[in-house]
Amino acid sequence: MFEHIERVPGDAILGLIEAFKKDTNPQKVDLGVGVYRDAHGNTPVMRAVKEAEARLLSNETTKTYIGSHGAPAYGGVVLPMVLGASSPVLEANRASATQSPGGTGALRLAADFIATQLPDRGIWVSDPTWPNHHGIFTAAGIELHKYPYVDPDNRLDFDGMLGALKKIPEGDVVVLHACCHNPTGFDLSKSQWQQVLEVVKERQLLPLIDFAYQGFGEGLDEDAYGVRLFAEQLDEVIITSSCSKNFGIYCERTGCLIMVAKDAEQMENIRSQVAIVARENYSNPPAHGGAIVSEILHDAELSAMWREELTEMRDRINTLRRDFVEALKPYGLDEKYACVAEQRGMFSYTGLTPEQVDRLRDEFGIYMVRSGRANVAGFSQENLPYLAKAIAAVND
Ligand code: LMR
Repeated sequence: MFEHIERVPGDAILGLIEAFKKDTNPQKVDLGVGVYRDAHGNTPVMRAVKEAEARLLSNETTKTYIGSHGAPAYGGVVLPMVLGASSPVLEANRASATQSPGGTGALRLAADFIATQLPDRGIWVSDPTWPNHHGIFTAAGIELHKYPYVDPDNRLDFDGMLGALKKIPEGDVVVLHACCHNPTGFDLSKSQWQQVLEVVKERQLLPLIDFAYQGFGEGLDEDAYGVRLFAEQLDEVIITSSCSKNFGIYCERTGCLIMVAKDAEQMENIRSQVAIVARENYSNPPAHGGAIVSEILHDAELSAMWREELTEMRDRINTLRRDFVEALKPYGLDEKYACVAEQRGMFSYTGLTPEQVDRLRDEFGIYMVRSGRANVAGFSQENLPYLAKAIAAVND
């Protein structure tokens, strides 16, 4: 029965975790999977999360199911975090929140919703995008297309992007990254968001905004600029949010599918359909991560602590970006890699070729995705001189 089944290579990003573990080079550097690292290379539990968990443990009274939409208290704090505390969208009761197993779970819910409720629509992703976007939308049976995002000189190709969006068939779905574009780190400016909005309106496209890194770019509210603009200006928007990175609760699988509809009546119709999609996928989401987030955001003291820790993480990454470029100066490579200081979020599309990435791994024990995407949080004051030397060697 199983004879014909072939072995396939594992996931290119997750595979780096294992490959890195096996490497015995004492100077090895992990710039692979998108998890935050502190100056010691650890991914610590945030202090606010630890405190919230202690409170939850002593106050928890049941482990009963939380329902297909998840805990109302979680949706109640994620909606204002994403859409803004005084959002007219929330005022009009146009947005519905469904707790999901991570941002990936939210994307899969969105994909299944599109496949069942809006059949025959194509979906358009940036080229490049997070590789799992391809897997998720294709698995749901949606036809996938690409629009350009970077040019051959490794710069944001906004003209190419806008030109391609103008040609998308009316009614198709366009996937946008709210901030901290994965894998490139190139984000849209306010005026570019505005221009994309005009095209989306003109072509009557349905935007699906992936919001996995809120707070890692410029700030919690700043990073939500495009999301809030679209939700306020359009009748329909799909948003997939994640708390994996900004709360550092990767393994708790904590995300949210936010469906914005024209009015409260349509929102309830859509919400009823999303409940079915969730039920058919996994029934109820896991509760713990959502409980941590609501415990923190319902408490002023914990909220302040969490915001402070998030700011520390963001500032550390942005400082390392500048220090990386500085470390390349003695090799005359600072201009070539100046983009790293301009990009935002956890990732940088460095412009390193797959062959250079292979050499960095084999000769220096430096691990990153073959596309040349580096997790900037893996840089440290200690490893920057080594990284710069290695990059200079593969540029020779
Ligand atoms: C990444 O892109 O590295 C992260 O989003 C983790 C993942 O699941 O790929």
